[in-house]
Amino acid sequence: MKATLEALGLEIEQTLGGCTSEEELEQVRVTFLGRKGRLTEVMRGVGALPPAERPIIGELVNAIKRRVDERIESLRTEWQSAARAHALATERIDVTLPGRRSLQGHQHPLTTTLEEVTAIFVGLGFAVHDGPHIEDERHNFEALNIPADHPARDMHDTFFVDRRHVLRTHTSPVQIRVMEQTEPPVAAIAPGAVYRHDDDVTHSPMFHQIEGFLVDRGVTFADLKGVLGLFVQRMFGPETRVRFRPSFFPFTEPSAEIDISCVICGGDRFVDGQPCRVCKSTGWLEILGSGMIHPAVFAAVGYDPEKFSGFAFGVGIERVAMLKYGINDIRLFFQNDLRFLRQF
Ligand code: DAH
Repeated sequence: MKATLEALGLEIEQTLGGCTSEEELEQVRVTFLGRKGRLTEVMRGVGALPPAERPIIGELVNAIKRRVDERIESLRTEWQSAARAHALATERIDVTLPGRRSLQGHQHPLTTTLEEVTAIFVGLGFAVHDGPHIEDERHNFEALNIPADHPARDMHDTFFVDRRHVLRTHTSPVQIRVMEQTEPPVAAIAPGAVYRHDDDVTHSPMFHQIEGFLVDRGVTFADLKGVLGLFVQRMFGPETRVRFRPSFFPFTEPSAEIDISCVICGGDRFVDGQPCRVCKSTGWLEILGSGMIHPAVFAAVGYDPEKFSGFAFGVGIERVAMLKYGINDIRLFFQNDLRFLRQF
């Protein structure tokens, strides 16, 4: 009996020595120590032995069992710590690596320009007003002295919403809305999107304008020149020169277009001996429409033209931004191409 047990103990040790996984260890445990295991079978036979031998054999069986249990346990811990060491080595995180920066957005160049223009006029005491983008014909045209069938309507390439409503073709209707609700003196600007049926490198079907106007007693063309000259110098730099050219707008009389000395050639008309392409070698860039508010506009809003006078102006934001940043295609503003936007 003793010899059988010792042989069995040896066999278990050998089998364990050949194990390579925890599943195999478990298999060995079941085969030898399980309820129907071979060592268990032997133990069952202990009762049939002469009483004197029982404790000796029992002791031997227990010793084998203990040894096997310990061996299984130590193999298991050995493997587990090896696995952990392997994982630690291969899954190591290099905490000194610089982190990945998440993409940070920033303001669109048009918003920056719009805010800059707005800030200059707010600094001069102008209030900021808003108006509807779907506008009725009266505010967009009639009250601005552009009656139906007036040829000036052709310049506007209007999107009609229905027979009486349009997508506003300019921010001038806000002038009317503010004057309808305010008694002079009043000085206001109206920044916002406008819409025209037009689409090429210098025209977009949606673009932005800032309308501005000032009405009080005794306002003259000199006030217009002073305010807009100041705006231009603040926006484009103190060295910028201004030129007023006679023009026509139905809602102003007299009307003037304001040019600034070219931001690229500085008015020299040539860059490195080549004709300046931005001002087409004229030395000037058109930047603003303006004029003294027409008496017909005052009549439409109930202002007395004998008592009050005023000036108005309109600036295209895209145009200002294009000149300021040297952009040659208006569509770049609206394509959301990050390669373009990241440059600002
Ligand atoms: N509303 C004009 C336009 O869209 C711009 C303009 C010109 C506004 C002259 C004015 C002005 O107030 O006096 O084209």
